[in-house]
Amino acid sequence: MPFIDHVSDSDLQRLALQRVVPALLSRGFCYVDGLLGEVAGGAVLEQVRDMHRSGALQDGRLASSAPGVHRRNVRGDKIAWVSGAERGCEAVNFLLNLIDKLVSMCAGRLGTGTGTGAGAGTSIRERSKAMVACYPGNGTGYVKHVDNHNYDGRRITCIYYLNKDWNAKEHGGVLRIFPEGKSYVVDIQPLFDRLLLFWSDRRNPHEVQPSYATRYAITVWYFDSEERAEAKRRFRDLAASTSQQQQQPPQDSGSS
Ligand code: OGA
Ligand code: MN
Repeated sequence: MPFIDHVSDSDLQRLALQRVVPALLSRGFCYVDGLLGEVAGGAVLEQVRDMHRSGALQDGRLASSAPGVHRRNVRGDKIAWVSGAERGCEAVNFLLNLIDKLVSMCAGRLGTGTGTGAGAGTSIRERSKAMVACYPGNGTGYVKHVDNHNYDGRRITCIYYLNKDWNAKEHGGVLRIFPEGKSYVVDIQPLFDRLLLFWSDRRNPHEVQPSYATRYAITVWYFDSEERAEAKRRFRDLAASTSQQQQQPPQDSGSS
C-alpha cells in the first residue's frame, strides 16, 4: 500500500456523524476539505492525469438528445467509468474505499433521505462505478440539471475534486447548486482534495459553470436500494416492450 492510511475509522465516524449527516439533513449538501491529504490526494490526481494523457477519457453522453441540441452546449466533459480495480487506479481505489466507508457510516442515520418517513432508515448499499471527469478548459461546463430526475435510484452524489491553485475568478468551473424552494444559490469551487456530497434528486438542481482551465473530478452515485430495484424493473419492462415492438411487424400488433 503506497499510502499511509492516516484517516482512522474514528476520524471518519466523527466526520460522518458530526458533519455529513447533520448537513445533509438540514441543507441537503456537505463538503469536506483535506479528505486525503497532500500525498494520497496527489496520487489520485496523478492517476487521473495519466488517464487523461493516455486518451482514456471520452466525451460524456447525454441521457437523451433532441435534434439540434449539441452535446458540447449541454455538457463539455470527458469521462471514463472505473471500478478502481484497474491497473493504474490504486489511488483512486483507495479514495473509493474511503468514501464507501464514510457513506456507510452515514447511511443508517439519513432517514429515507426523501423528507418522508424520516427515521425509517434509507438503505444505501450499492453505488455506481466511479466517473472520472475532465472539463478541458475550453469554456464548456454542464447546464443546470438534476442528476436523478426520474427516480432512477440515485440518492447521494459524491464528487471529489482535484484542482490545485484553482481560482474561480480566472478559471470559472464553479459548481452552483440551486436548492429547491430556496431563494439563494450555493457556489462550490472544485478545489483539490475537497469531497462534496448532496442529494441526487430534485432537491439539488446544479450546473457546472464554464471552465477555462483543466478541471478534474471523480464522481460516484449511491443508490437507495428500493428505488433502484424499482427503477431496474421499470427499465427491464421498457426494454422488453421495445424489443417486442421491434420484432413484430406493425400490422400484427394488437389487432384481432
Ligand atoms: C455531473 C455534474 C458536477 C461537477 O457530472 O452530473 O453535475 O462539479 N458534475 O463536476
Ligand atoms: Mn450533476
